Amino acid sequence: MAKLPGNPGYPVVGDKSLEFYKDPVGFCEHRLKKHKSRVFLTRFTNKPTAVVCSVRGMRELLHEKSGEEACLLRLSLSSIFTGACLESWSNDIPEEQPQLYQEITQLCTQHWHGLISAPVSVKVPMWSSGFSMAQEARGRLMDIIKDKLENDKQGFVGSLGTLPLPHPGCASQHLLLFISALIPKALASLLTSFTLALSGTQQEQTRQRAREEPEFFRCVLLEVQRLWPPFIGGRRIANKDTTIEGFAIPQGHVVMYVSHAVHRDPEVFQQPNHFLPDRWTGRNAGQEHLLCCLGNGPRNCIGAQLTDNFVKTACSYLLTHYDWTLDPPEQNTAYKWLPVSRPAEPLHVSFTRLDPTGAPGGPPSAQ
Ligand code: HEM
Repeated sequence: MAKLPGNPGYPVVGDKSLEFYKDPVGFCEHRLKKHKSRVFLTRFTNKPTAVVCSVRGMRELLHEKSGEEACLLRLSLSSIFTGACLESWSNDIPEEQPQLYQEITQLCTQHWHGLISAPVSVKVPMWSSGFSMAQEARGRLMDIIKDKLENDKQGFVGSLGTLPLPHPGCASQHLLLFISALIPKALASLLTSFTLALSGTQQEQTRQRAREEPEFFRCVLLEVQRLWPPFIGGRRIANKDTTIEGFAIPQGHVVMYVSHAVHRDPEVFQQPNHFLPDRWTGRNAGQEHLLCCLGNGPRNCIGAQLTDNFVKTACSYLLTHYDWTLDPPEQNTAYKWLPVSRPAEPLHVSFTRLDPTGAPGGPPSAQ
């Protein structure tokens, strides 16, 4: 059994979390070159961590080496993200009680910002730490959620309330996760990447083809997911000695797949850094299952179909009603990848409403 290339370093002093956090893409690129291997060893959060950057390693990790311990729970929850429930999702978009939904949005944002701040709860007169404000927001969100679970008998919340979940508090916990600010951020990340990839006169033909050919539109969305996955990846902990791509992974090691790097594995994706939607009807036809933007295998994203519906609806609306370009055309479009991939600096995009024939013209442009 081969030894993993790379070095777990000494505890604490050898930890590379901060280096990874500052520039996850640069971190992986540097080590991929250095170790000449798409799986390597390092130390994150003070644990020896095998980093997986290959399609083969990601599939092995998330299929063969993934447990299914939450199988029944997943099955239950999945039912509210598929079939008839999924078709009714647009009815659940709030038109009544706009103030309540505005409050929920604000609380979710406050909850999220607090969660990613230092986990220290401090409250003194006139000042509360981000973490303690997050706890307050969580408390208020839980009150709203419990009230909805008791009173909403239809739609998404009604369906969640009828599921056979392991214990009574379960539904409210899951609902808190489903409305967490991280999910809209991930959706916004995909919409932003779509907008940038198709902006400007140089992409005019691509936009036109995407408007006219549903199959090409599907390929554009796949290519956006491939190049700009909203989340950097996911992690598992080995509960026994195992292997990935023939490399030994001792019990207790963390194994982390990095979607950005997996999606650029040159063994599967030729010209990996280029935006080439046609690859999905050419060399990579039928290989959507090799992406891990929404995870992969038995523990993939349970919101995958909902996400697909949402992204298709929003992007096709944009394409049908607008043309757009970066304004000014030269701006810094470099990305940052954590906690959710997005442009590092605010960008200005100018949108021009299309007239009903699909040609630019209609009312004045919006920014
Ligand atoms: C653009 C939107 C989204 C992205 C990029 C995304 C991404 C992911 C990824 C990468 C995983 C797998 C993590 C891993 O392997 O450790 C995952 C799992 C999951 N996602 Fe999503 N997700 C999105 C939207 C949603 C939505 C809308 C929901 C539900 C409201 C959702 C609920 C979940 C849940 C519950 C899991 C855990 C599944 C399990 O462990 O069995 N996600 N998601």
